[in-house]
Amino acid sequence: MKGVITAGGLGTRLLPMTRVTNKHLLPVYDRPMIFYPIETLAQAGIEEIMIITGGKHAGDFLPLLGDGKDFGLKRLHYAYQAREGGIAEALALTRDFVAGDSVAVMLGDNIIEKNIVSFVEKFREQQKGARIILKEVDHPESYGVPRFDAKNRIAEIIEKPKNPPSRYAVIGVYMYDSRVFDIIDKLEVSARGELEITDVNNAYLREGTMTYDILDGWWADCGETRFSLHEAACLIEKTGANNV
Ligand code: G1P
Repeated sequence: MKGVITAGGLGTRLLPMTRVTNKHLLPVYDRPMIFYPIETLAQAGIEEIMIITGGKHAGDFLPLLGDGKDFGLKRLHYAYQAREGGIAEALALTRDFVAGDSVAVMLGDNIIEKNIVSFVEKFREQQKGARIILKEVDHPESYGVPRFDAKNRIAEIIEKPKNPPSRYAVIGVYMYDSRVFDIIDKLEVSARGELEITDVNNAYLREGTMTYDILDGWWADCGETRFSLHEAACLIEKTGANNV
């Protein structure tokens, strides 16, 4: 299984901190933000990761992360996303890197208290389809939100719903089989001008090959606002992140 981490975006909500650097290079407690998702994937046994970044500060990732050996990786790869086209568009850039393998995608601003080791193991056994991770949150309207049917299966995922159909958020860790790239090819651009990862997930749901797990421990989407950035740092100070 390959790993992909999205680390693009303009970081406008975190200005002025993002004026001279990429959001994912900002410190969160004692490490740059991007360290956390790399550790999460490496810990789950993923040995090759591609980081997709963009914008004016893309070059800063190389001197910081190098070839990935410090994280125990076989190799770290890089891709450049030329515009703000969404998570699914970023993922499409990794088609040749993933090369028929399965892929675990993690958003570069997502940090978790524990780990995804058992979820990745279950996905390896699953072989076909996709697997997502849910977390109960106070404000689901900021995220992709699952609607469950009577048998507790996910019927659909709604992106940032005004009236959330459940208290769960789809966190920024997604596992897909190699067919994900064909699914992305068929996507249409959303109202916000992006190729939405939620549309990818809904395609797998329609096919009946999507499974899910519920995350244990806290989840921080730390790149949203200065508050979420600060809160993530406080959580890490208290418990650490990526605990096994
Ligand atoms: C993205 C996804 C959303 C998901 C969230 C997790 O939102 O579109 O479904 O719940 O990441 O961090 P964005 O951060 O692009 O608004």
